[in-house]
Amino acid sequence: MQLTAPLPNLSPLSDEQQRQLNQVLSTLNTQQLAWVSGYLYGLSQSGSQPVTGTAASPAAGGSLTILYGSQTGNAKGAAAAIQKQAEAQGLPVTLVSMADYKPKQLKKESHLLVVVSTYGEGEPPESAVDLFEQLKKGKIGKLEGLKFAVLGLGDSSYEFFCQTGKDFDGFLAKAGAERIYELASLDVDYQAAAKAWSEQAVKAIATTLSAGTATASVAGAVQSAVGHSQYHKENPFPARLSVNQKITGRDSTKDIRHIEINLEESGIQYQPGDALGIWFDNDASLVGEVLALTELRGDEVTSKGPLREALTRHFELTRLHGGFITGLADISGNAALKDLAGDKAQVNALVAAAQVVDVLKRFPAKLSAEQLVSLLRPLTPRLYSIASAQSEVEEEVHLTVGVVRHPQADGTLRSGGASSYLADRLPEEAEVRVFVEHNDNFRLPTSPDTPVIMVGPGTGIAPFRAFLQERETTGAEGKNWLFFGNPHFTQDFLYQVEWQRYVKSGLLSKISLAFSRDQGHKIYVQDRLREAGLELYQWLEAGAHFYVCGDANHMAKDVQQALLEVIAEHGHKSHEEAEEYLSELRRAKRYQRDVY
Ligand SMILES: Cc1cc2nc3c(=O)[nH]c(=O)nc-3n(C[C@H](O)[C@H](O)[C@H](O)COP(=O)(O)OP(=O)(O)OC[C@H]3O[C@@H](n4cnc5c(N)ncnc54)[C@H](O)[C@@H]3O)c2cc1C
Ligand SMILES: NC(=O)c1ccc[n+]([C@@H]2O[C@H](COP(=O)([O-])OP(=O)(O)OC[C@H]3O[C@@H](n4cnc5c(N)ncnc54)[C@H](OP(=O)(O)O)[C@@H]3O)[C@@H](O)[C@H]2O)c1
Ligand SMILES: Cc1cc2nc3c(=O)[nH]c(=O)nc-3n(C[C@H](O)[C@H](O)[C@H](O)COP(=O)(O)O)c2cc1C
Repeated sequence: MQLTAPLPNLSPLSDEQQRQLNQVLSTLNTQQLAWVSGYLYGLSQSGSQPVTGTAASPAAGGSLTILYGSQTGNAKGAAAAIQKQAEAQGLPVTLVSMADYKPKQLKKESHLLVVVSTYGEGEPPESAVDLFEQLKKGKIGKLEGLKFAVLGLGDSSYEFFCQTGKDFDGFLAKAGAERIYELASLDVDYQAAAKAWSEQAVKAIATTLSAGTATASVAGAVQSAVGHSQYHKENPFPARLSVNQKITGRDSTKDIRHIEINLEESGIQYQPGDALGIWFDNDASLVGEVLALTELRGDEVTSKGPLREALTRHFELTRLHGGFITGLADISGNAALKDLAGDKAQVNALVAAAQVVDVLKRFPAKLSAEQLVSLLRPLTPRLYSIASAQSEVEEEVHLTVGVVRHPQADGTLRSGGASSYLADRLPEEAEVRVFVEHNDNFRLPTSPDTPVIMVGPGTGIAPFRAFLQERETTGAEGKNWLFFGNPHFTQDFLYQVEWQRYVKSGLLSKISLAFSRDQGHKIYVQDRLREAGLELYQWLEAGAHFYVCGDANHMAKDVQQALLEVIAEHGHKSHEEAEEYLSELRRAKRYQRDVY
């Protein structure tokens, strides 16, 4: 398949330059083309020349390295903003993702800013795992002479708020590095605080670092190139919902939807492994319930327009946070709520299992519009792993959405904000505001011949549909092995017909299925990994990349444990050696996870 058209004559290049460029471009696959386009864009934005080799070593007076660990782009964006600030002050600065950073390089740094988010139950984002583990285990050794500051991003509705930022701060200090600005632990509405923190942190850096010419490195250029579409989180594209199809059976315990969204005229480009951000409106009846419980009418004026509209479009109602409970206790003076708010364990339990409306039902309070709005957090878009490849679907984007529904004691259902918006409230052809969140830490191998192992139970299947579409349309010859699981074969075999077609055509070399509830005892994907341990290990030894997508808290951990056991048993290794083997796979980007 011809991937690149010759450059048109309108280009500002000389004939010879054009010939050389055409020659190089004609050898690239789609993924390489996308990388090069980002790289060149980054270079053009940074004004720097291409350089060969790795990031520049510290200048005589030292230099600043900004390391970010990010999964959904917030820490990456905050780090890029700090880079701009530092450059504006003429500081020599390098911006690099932890995923592309050799931990041992830390010993050569003079000034370091870490910007990192937190996932799972207080764990680092995927791209930060290797560096995090090496620091935690003290493998990098002493870091005396290094000056550092840490900016942690998180969400206070989670029990382990900003834990990874706190951990990095502690690890660096323990290694003897000097903290030159205090740790920040910022919540979901972090933007203003991040700006204020970075101004102070950069100032602290600048006083100990001689100014020089800003030397945005290749890594920096590439990183800043990512996500250069005009549409992003703050400026989403008004797309159209074109398909909303339930793909679980009538008797399934799950409601999973195949969603198709039309991106025509947006110019949006995505790659397999990326996620789509969805902005949503809260359910009108939920908004009505909140208004009734707080004795408000809805036409009261707020900074975001009339209250009803503000609650529908701008504030979180379905994701509770601890501040709502403690704030409501203060405002209402309700003694029982005050008792509960003083007990962290009870607050955490409520946050995990209830919504704003449930708290108001239990502890009704007459509030002013201003008081209500002050207790709520801004609505945040939800991310969904993209389940299609543009090489196949062109200006569409497909998702696999599990609708979140919690049955209540009174027989009613509480639904997830975004998943129920897509499934229940958005008519076909209606507008939906979307943006692409690029994820360079979840990519097909560059070589089309590399074998690929994909583990994606439940909605975790989504990115692997994209991977296989891409491998089919580009004619990639590498072997593909899919592990999928869900409760029942007859009800929950997502995209069954497509996998059967791929098995028949030979694209899917192997498929291993784990229908957990079709027999007396549970069978999960990790059981299938263990059963096929020898062959799995042989694939790894042959250079296979291993991908996991889906539930972070249980499945991904159990799959990692099974993988370690397989490596130990069939590679005849000790537990420590198996862990090192897996770390090597991670460093080589051959073990990638997209878990949530
Ligand atoms: C990178 C990434 C990729 C993802 N990919 C996918 C994907 O491909 N497919 C997919 O389906 N999802 C995916 N997700 C998850 C998705 O982003 C959303 O988190 C998910 O759809 C839930 O969002 P929601 O708005 O529907 O629910 P929310 O509005 O977030 O509601 C969930 C809330 O309900 C509350 N709750 C819990 N229990 C109860 C109860 N018993 N009663 C009342 N309320 C309760 C909790 O407070 C919880 O926070 C992904 C997430 C990430 C980060
Ligand atoms: N953090 C968020 O914002 C968010 C939002 C929505 C969903 N999620 C997560 O995303 C996951 C995906 O949801 P889903 O409904 O598509 O699928 P799922 O709940 O992960 O279920 C898919 C299959 O995995 C099985 N399973 C359960 N525990 C497992 C384990 N420890 N190891 C391996 N397999 C296991 C299930 O079996 P049984 O059910 O029979 O045990 C089922 O057969 C959910 O588990 C949820 O945790 C997170
Ligand atoms: C699945 C999931 C788990 C999370 N777990 C935590 C957590 O344990 N503690 C915390 O403070 N924040 C947690 N967060 C919030 C993120 O850290 C926060 O959204 C952050 O801004 C994300 O930054 P990033 O886009 O750079 O990854 C979690 C977010 C998601 C989606």
